[in-house]
Amino acid sequence: MKRIVILISGRGSNMLSILDAVAAGVLPATVVAVLSNRLDAPGLAAARVRGIPVGVIDHRAHASRESFDSALAEAIDVYSPDLVVLAGFMRILTDDFVLRYAGRMINIHPSLLPLFPGLHTHRQALAAGVRVHGCTVHFVTPTLDHGPIIAQAAVPVVDGDDEAALAARVLVQEHLLYPEAIRWFVEDRLSLVNGRVRLAAPQCLSPGLVSPTCPSS
Ligand code: GRF
Repeated sequence: MKRIVILISGRGSNMLSILDAVAAGVLPATVVAVLSNRLDAPGLAAARVRGIPVGVIDHRAHASRESFDSALAEAIDVYSPDLVVLAGFMRILTDDFVLRYAGRMINIHPSLLPLFPGLHTHRQALAAGVRVHGCTVHFVTPTLDHGPIIAQAAVPVVDGDDEAALAARVLVQEHLLYPEAIRWFVEDRLSLVNGRVRLAAPQCLSPGLVSPTCPSS
């Protein structure tokens, strides 16, 4: 069973969708720890309730990004993970840290990358007037929100949407997409060809996600 460490900074709803998928038996992996840079991240309590080991590496206790990142790497490596999952982890990571986990660290970003990297993605989407928005799971590389794309899910932008309404519509898809993409990783179905992600067959998506879907027969 592949070992996953999840990094969070906040409420942890994506983390919970992953823990739910593991508990339901649809994601064959073990979440060995949930780590946060914030002691007050609400997701930590939720992980603890489910019996997952949790840890806090407080970024404020470190004078530099390098020092924080090496403490974080030390904490992660205790658990010997096959995969590091960023789930609302709100820290810019140093190149050294990113390269240490090259090919085995993924992130979910609430936009259809390469559109709208960075913060306030729903506000950016509304300001741009796009009719389609969504979320992206990607490998993490040193350039923020730019790594090879593993999976995306799209939602419509509806007249009258505000940031909260749009964020909520995207979040529903995030909770479906992330466990699915992680399943592809733990099933060793992802490979990188010329810097792009290739998914080994079958290219099925769970009901509710964007096509392609498998024939129902
Ligand atoms: C999600 O929208 C995720 O895409 C982004 O940060 C948010 C985290 O939410 N990276 P949660 O903590 O998983 O609820």
